[in-house]
Amino acid sequence: MKTSLTDRIEALKRTHNAVILAHNYQVDEVQDLADYTGDSLELARQAARTDADVIVFCGVYFMAETAYILNPGKTVLLPDRSAGCPMARMIDAGTVENLRREHPDAAVVCYVNSTAAVKAASDYCCTSSNAVQIVESIDPHRPVIFVPDRHLGRWVAEQTGRRIITHRGFCPTHMRITPEVLASLRAQHPDAEIMVHPECSQDTVALADVVTSTSGMLRHARTSTASTIIVGTELGLLHRLRRESPDKTFVPATSAAVCPNMKKTTLEKVLWSLEEMQSRVVVPEPVCGKARRALDRMLEVAGAGERPAQAHSMAP
Ligand code: 13P
Ligand code: SF4
Repeated sequence: MKTSLTDRIEALKRTHNAVILAHNYQVDEVQDLADYTGDSLELARQAARTDADVIVFCGVYFMAETAYILNPGKTVLLPDRSAGCPMARMIDAGTVENLRREHPDAAVVCYVNSTAAVKAASDYCCTSSNAVQIVESIDPHRPVIFVPDRHLGRWVAEQTGRRIITHRGFCPTHMRITPEVLASLRAQHPDAEIMVHPECSQDTVALADVVTSTSGMLRHARTSTASTIIVGTELGLLHRLRRESPDKTFVPATSAAVCPNMKKTTLEKVLWSLEEMQSRVVVPEPVCGKARRALDRMLEVAGAGERPAQAHSMAP
């Protein structure tokens, strides 16, 4: 009998003492294969505490880099090295330093969707699930420079009432979830709840009932009383939503909300990755150590886990 791809991957996992981590946006079969599937914070936590010698990261480059920074003794493999995040490339460390010179009193918070060099130039890292908590932990007299996502930065400013200087970065995939598509779906499904990711624009967020990370959406859906939920994030999340809350109907905000980089990882590439021990992601010193400080501060502040999903109407 021919050995299946999955069997060959499982056998190599045992040989190399490997763990497979997958983001919630990965293709269904990669999510099903993974040992852990989660949002950026959950995967960073898994990477920081794993006993495995090899981490196969099914996600985008900055996520594999983060896994390496948190656990530099491990071999971190990215099955497709070209899987990058366009938002992470919208700012470099030099721009962060310039912003610091312009605002010398400010603390710098970088979204985890950033390069290792940008993390190294920042004081704190955050993910979409703990950005509010991280900003609230900073001395209220200090302004905050938030990079690179202008939409997440603005949303955090609204939630906290803090003075936040944002950069101009954005996620091209979440920009496709427009207020027009949500308004039209609201008219078609008047009783439905709308959940969106905080990477969406202000006008889109204004139409949502819940604004939270991908895993925040999974948790919210499990306890929501709505029978239909409109999902304003990348389509890959629908796989877990439907599996974990089979009693509900999930309507994607738009079929255009696809992150092409998240879809680059396939089972074949995961197999290749474990056969060849490629492609290795390494972050050299001193950037690794400096970036780790920002990530460690995030894990110290957010160590207890995510707050419940927040309604956008919550007063700052
Ligand atoms: P989450 O941390 O909410 O999963 O988001 C990651 C991401 O890249 C969103 O576009
Ligand atoms: Fe980057 Fe957007 Fe893709 Fe997330 S969905 S990895 S922010 S491009």
